[in-house]
Amino acid sequence: MNRKWWKEAVVYQIYPRSFMDSNGDGIGDLQGIISKLDYIKSLGVNVVWLNPIYSSPNDDNGYDVSDYRNIMKDFGTMADFDELLKGLHKRGIKLVMDLVVNHSSDEHEWFKQSRSSRTNPYRDYYHWWNAERGKPTPRYSLFDVNHDAWRYDSLTNAYYLHYFSRKQPDLNWENPKLRKEVYNMMKFWADKGIDGFRLDAFQFAAKDITWPKFPDGYEKNFSKYYAIGPHLHDYLKEMNKEVLSKYNVMSVAEGAGNSMKDAHNLVDADRNELNMAYAFDGVDIAKQGGYSLLHFKQVFSKWDSAFAQKGWLSIFLANHDQARMVSRFGNDGPDFRDASSKMLTTFIMTMRGTPYYYNGDELGMTNAGFDKIEDYRDVATLNEYKHQQNIGGDMKAYMKRIAFECRDNGRTPFQWNSTDNAGFTTGTPWIGVNRNYKTINEAAEDKDPNSILNYFRKMVQLRRQNLVLVYGKYTLIDKSNPDVYAYTRQLNGKKLLVLLNFKSTSASVKLSYDLEKAKVLICNYPQDSKDGTLKPYEAVVYEL
Ligand code: GLC
Ligand code: CA
Repeated sequence: MNRKWWKEAVVYQIYPRSFMDSNGDGIGDLQGIISKLDYIKSLGVNVVWLNPIYSSPNDDNGYDVSDYRNIMKDFGTMADFDELLKGLHKRGIKLVMDLVVNHSSDEHEWFKQSRSSRTNPYRDYYHWWNAERGKPTPRYSLFDVNHDAWRYDSLTNAYYLHYFSRKQPDLNWENPKLRKEVYNMMKFWADKGIDGFRLDAFQFAAKDITWPKFPDGYEKNFSKYYAIGPHLHDYLKEMNKEVLSKYNVMSVAEGAGNSMKDAHNLVDADRNELNMAYAFDGVDIAKQGGYSLLHFKQVFSKWDSAFAQKGWLSIFLANHDQARMVSRFGNDGPDFRDASSKMLTTFIMTMRGTPYYYNGDELGMTNAGFDKIEDYRDVATLNEYKHQQNIGGDMKAYMKRIAFECRDNGRTPFQWNSTDNAGFTTGTPWIGVNRNYKTINEAAEDKDPNSILNYFRKMVQLRRQNLVLVYGKYTLIDKSNPDVYAYTRQLNGKKLLVLLNFKSTSASVKLSYDLEKAKVLICNYPQDSKDGTLKPYEAVVYEL
């Protein structure tokens, strides 16, 4: 057991735009977060991850950075940032920042220079394809209306590459000068005292550079051409040597490659690259039509066993790119929202791997399920809407899909209380508040000892006080049970049993333990029957 602070951490993710607005412009900001520091402390979490707060024209809510060393005007100033960092540290909470360097904004000075002429010293900070060579080899853009990742720029008669929106040109990591700029920028933040980096979309950073650049055939094997390009590990090793190894910072990659081998190559300690990655296999299985618990168990058990000896993972069921956890994996109806939210929280907090918990889930916030396209804000969703229109797609089906799946569902304002706009802003919120804020809000839940919020607080304490939940061996029990997820965690003679009913009906589980003698550490119902039968969405953790 190789103890590390980042393995023992509980990470709380804050989406700054939607957390708390301090000045009435309808947009969450740093002073808003500062005003809620005692709330964050009250959760018991010890790491906060902030989505990007750098200068940005907000084509993709800050994931299009125009200045990596400044704060977005909507969010405040560098003085606000310093105050926030100090306030967190004073409360024993570390800060992880988003590092968005697969691409920048097209309004970044580097790109302005780069596009200005073919001989500009910044030209090679991005990927350009001169038009004399003909049309570039096709590449897919995830966010563009036409899904074409090459954008023609008449100024220099050339195309630039953008895997995301056209306002997010991809940086050229093959250029050592660009890499040095990024490392210096990382040092700037690390010197300020931040505690970690979350590497956004970094799997895409290394491009296929065999001549002629960008070979054909990506349509047949998207991930082969996109994820984990030829020199990615060289860049990460270099980043580790130049920056990460010099500070007591943690590092986590968005995405874990295409295979277990890729994932290990990113995070195994002896490779000196990153600390952990998060894989999408878990969240990807929950679609509109539901998901099977057997599949869910299989995915999480597979990842656990692959990392049981070496490497480290993260556990999450939601983030700012996903719809709400309880709406996707639980049951957001009035009868079961409470129990199923608590059950999912129990799952996240009792698995091996660092838990990443998304703001609002501790209240059991649900999907907003907007039914008009005008209510949506996400660039990818709006562009795809136009794309579907252009190709004559089924618009009804599309609207139904986004009501369930769109990431805007996870971005509606944090519900603080039952006053106007859920207490998030005195102005007009940048995105609509979920209609249910009068009943689902922090003020009400704080007062209720049995609320989802107070259950979360207890669950965080349980994890932080029991190293067995962090490092203990995971063993799946009653594997083929389609309703109940049951497992033990075991370390140095201590053994915990976790039982989770994922169904809205009672269920039972096959056990070879005598529960009569076991101690209940936590349960989301007033009482557990101790006979291996579970109430709807019941969660219980025993010490055996
Ligand atoms: C990552 C971010 C997402 C963003 C994209 C482009 O997936 O999590 O929010 O849109 O990268 O930066
Ligand atoms: Ca504001």
